[in-house]
Amino acid sequence: MTNIGFVGLGKLGLDCAEVFAEKYTVRGYDIYPRTSDSVKVCDIDETVNASDWIFIAVPTPHAEGYDGSVPSSHMEPRDFGHEAVLDAIDKINRYATSPKKVVLISTVLPGTTRRKFITQLDPRHQFLYNPYLIAMGSVKWDMANPEMVIIGTEDGELTGVAGELITLYRGIMKNDPRYEIGTWDECESIKIFYNTFISAKVGLVNMIQDFALKIGNINVDVVTNALSRSTMRIMGPKYMTAGMGDAGACHPRDNIALRWLAEEYNIGYDLFDTVMHAREIQAENLANFLVKEAQDRGLNIVIHGKAYKPDVPYCIGSYSTLVGHYVKAAGMSVSYLDPLADDPSEVVAEVTAPAVFLWAHNRKITYEYTGDQLDTQPYCAIPEGSVIVDPWRKLHTSQTGFTVIHYGNTRSR
Ligand SMILES: NC(=O)c1ccc[n+]([C@@H]2O[C@H](COP(=O)([O-])OP(=O)(O)OC[C@H]3O[C@@H](n4cnc5c(N)ncnc54)[C@H](O)[C@@H]3O)[C@@H](O)[C@H]2O)c1
Repeated sequence: MTNIGFVGLGKLGLDCAEVFAEKYTVRGYDIYPRTSDSVKVCDIDETVNASDWIFIAVPTPHAEGYDGSVPSSHMEPRDFGHEAVLDAIDKINRYATSPKKVVLISTVLPGTTRRKFITQLDPRHQFLYNPYLIAMGSVKWDMANPEMVIIGTEDGELTGVAGELITLYRGIMKNDPRYEIGTWDECESIKIFYNTFISAKVGLVNMIQDFALKIGNINVDVVTNALSRSTMRIMGPKYMTAGMGDAGACHPRDNIALRWLAEEYNIGYDLFDTVMHAREIQAENLANFLVKEAQDRGLNIVIHGKAYKPDVPYCIGSYSTLVGHYVKAAGMSVSYLDPLADDPSEVVAEVTAPAVFLWAHNRKITYEYTGDQLDTQPYCAIPEGSVIVDPWRKLHTSQTGFTVIHYGNTRSR
C-alpha cells in the first residue's frame, strides 16, 4: 500500500491530497486545524513517518501589496517568502526515522531549490521539484487532467524516484499527460514562465482592446480572433526556439512604428519599447559572450550569416548586424560570412585563421514549417582551433578540430 503525506493542507494541498486519497492512503499535517473525509489529518510525526512520499504544499507568499490587486508595478521587485518551505524541510529532517521521498509542489523562482532548499534537506532523503499548473476553482479536475506533469531532478535525468513518481501519478490521472523532466532549475522555470507567458499574452490582447477604444472602428474580437486562428506562426511552437532575435524588413520596424502609435493615441504604456529594448540588450549580451570567448582565446569574431535570415540577401533589420554593432562597441572588430548578403561591408569570402564564429543562420529552424529540413552548410571552411557559438544549440558539440558552444544551455557548467 502506498502511503502519502502532505505538509500544508491549504487551497492547493487539501484538494490535491484528496485526489491522491481516491487511490492511496493519505495523511496530512498543517499548522492550522484542517478537516477532510478522505485524508487523515494528523501531527507532523505521523504524517512523516507513516508515509513513503511527503508532498510539501506550503505557501511561498509574496510580500504585502504584491498580489496585483492594487497598483504594484512601481514597487521594488521582491522574491517569494521561503520560511514555510524551510520549516517543512526542517520538520522532515527532525521527525523522519527513515529515508523519504520528498516532493516540493510550492512555486519558487528558478535557482531557489538548489540554492536554498537542497542545502537544508538531510541528504538521506530523495528530493523532487514538482510544481503544479493548477487553478483555483478547478483544483481537483486540474490535478487529474493536467496539461503536463513537471518533475525536476538534480541533473535533469529521469531518475528512479522520478519514475516512481510518474507511476504514482498514473494511478490518479484521468488523462494521459506529458511528463516533462528537467533539472530543478528548469522545472522552476517551466512553472513560472508558463504563468508569465499567460500574463504577457493577456497584456498584448488587452492592449489591442485599448487601441480599439482610442482609434475607433475596431472591434477587438475581430482582431484577436484572427490572431487566435493563426496557428502557423502565432498559436504554435514556431518562434519557441531561443536563438537570434526578431529581425527582418518588417518586425523591428513594426514595433518601432507602434511605439509612435502608442504615444500618438496616449495609450499610457509602451510594450513595444520594452520588446525592442529587450531585443537590444539580448543582442548586447550575446555580443559580450562572443567578445569574452574571443578575448580569452586571442581570436577574432566572425558572424556566420549577415542577412536577416538564411537564403536571402536582405540585411535590412538584421540581428546579426545588431550583434556586430555591440561587438564593435565592446572594442573588437567583426567580420561576416554570407555569400548572399546585399550589404558587402565587413563581409569576407573566407576565414583562414581560427576564430570565434557566431552561427547566426539556421535554415532548418527558419524554413522547416515549409517542409524544408535542410541544415545550414558552412559558408566557408572552418579553420581548426575555431570556436562556434551556436545560439540555436543544434550543432553537434563533439566535433573534431573545433569547439561548439551551445549558447543558452548552462546545464553542464
Ligand atoms: N492555489 C493555487 O491555485 C496554486 C496553484 C499552483 C501552485 N500553488 C503554489 O502552492 C503553494 C501553496 O499554495 P496554496 O494556495 O495552497 O496556499 P495556502 O496558503 O492556501 O495553503 C498553504 C497551507 O500551508 C499551511 N502552512 C503554512 N506554513 C506551514 C508550515 N510551516 N507547516 C505546515 N503547514 C503550513 C497553511 O496553514 C495553509 O493551510 C504556493 O507556493 C503556491 O504558489 C498554488
